[in-house]
Amino acid sequence: MAGYYLLATVLCLAVGNALATAVVLEGTYNVTQVCTMVKAGTRIGGTQSCDYFYTCTSSGPKKATCATGYTYNYKTQSCVPTGQASCYYGLANPCAGNTGNKWVPHVSNCQAWYWCNDDKIAGNGECADGLKFESATQRCVYGRCSSNVAGSGDVSICSVVPPNVYFGATDSCKTWNYCSDSGVLSTSACNSSAFIVSTGECGYSSYPGACDRVTSDPVPTTCTTLGTKQADPEVCGSYYVCDGSIFQLNKCPTGAYYDVAKETCVLRQTAVPIATCNRCQDTYIGFANAVDDKLCNSYYYCEHGEHGSTSTCPTGKYFNEELQACDDDNDLATYVIDNGACSGAKATDSSEADEDSAETKEDTKEESTETKEASNDTKSGAK
Ligand SMILES: *[C@@H]1O[C@H](CO)[C@@H](O)[C@H](O)[C@H]1NC(C)=O
Ligand SMILES: *[C@@H]1O[C@H](CO)[C@@H](O)[C@H](O)[C@H]1NC(C)=O
Ligand SMILES: *[C@@H]1O[C@H](CO)[C@@H](O)[C@H](O)[C@H]1NC(C)=O
Repeated sequence: MAGYYLLATVLCLAVGNALATAVVLEGTYNVTQVCTMVKAGTRIGGTQSCDYFYTCTSSGPKKATCATGYTYNYKTQSCVPTGQASCYYGLANPCAGNTGNKWVPHVSNCQAWYWCNDDKIAGNGECADGLKFESATQRCVYGRCSSNVAGSGDVSICSVVPPNVYFGATDSCKTWNYCSDSGVLSTSACNSSAFIVSTGECGYSSYPGACDRVTSDPVPTTCTTLGTKQADPEVCGSYYVCDGSIFQLNKCPTGAYYDVAKETCVLRQTAVPIATCNRCQDTYIGFANAVDDKLCNSYYYCEHGEHGSTSTCPTGKYFNEELQACDDDNDLATYVIDNGACSGAKATDSSEADEDSAETKEDTKEESTETKEASNDTKSGAK
């Protein structure tokens, strides 16, 4: 068995995201990566000129050009007559096509603006420290030039992704983003385990392909020692291996978790996972032991890989995943041998242990219904 998992781990290292088409980059803006964050069919802007856009498909971005006399308007995801789109990329003269007086943004400096008098630049300047130029309101507003996300590089994500749609992130499966009409980025995380790009709603990481876009987690970054391993703090079945400069994400085979003591993938039941990870992954049972090396008495309800709130067994009991109930502490010493989640746990005083023994199973059942109801809240998400 151990040999099988070792081999499986090695094979796992070789599995990557095979992309059908070449990666599209515009400087530090990774168009291919940003496309994985939006629903298929969404069009996103380019930054070299306003004449073209990309349609994000399941096999990557497909570039298309607007007809002569038309400019791509990323806000409406359509080509509009030149002059009607607020797009300034690649223009030698940002005032081209303008009539009257107007401030326009500087595409590579969010604090800077130009003042246009008809189609001529009549002035330029920068907003004071702590302010950025907001085209929609024609003013300097409080805020930093920080609406770039993993994948968008130096480019403000809200200047290429259309406003008013929820989209995902590539550094965390739970994170969602949203750009307002005026280009302000909102970022938050689902209560559940995943933001599903194809539905634009929060859901579960068990949904097919739900987290495929995630290329890196924000937690471990640089490292120096080749081969150093680190557990993923949230996903029991994932861990990082240092490639000499950065930590690369690796996944255990289905049904196996990363064992922090053995530093390899082992069967879920025997693995000693990192304390913060979700043991509902790859399990269809109702309740799971929380990682608990003290009393082994905390557990939570699992539904489609998502865990509900944590409950605790009465004094003198530990939670037995096989029995799906709190069990007498007398059996804990045997239980910890094959149940890595409770590795190191010890029973409390045996005098306390007898007191509540009659309540055991009923208690667990009641708590289970509550937990189930509570976990319903976590389903609604970004919508
Ligand atoms: C761009 O994104 C793709 C898809 O996430 C990734 O495979 C590729 O390594 C990225 N390229 C760069 C230069 O970041
Ligand atoms: C969650 O609660 C809502 C409203 O009470 C209900 O309509 C829905 O069916 C529930 N969903 C689940 C999965 O229990
Ligand atoms: C997420 O959970 C928090 C705390 O339980 C709650 O206040 C919030 O409304 C929830 N958000 C969603 C989108 O369900």
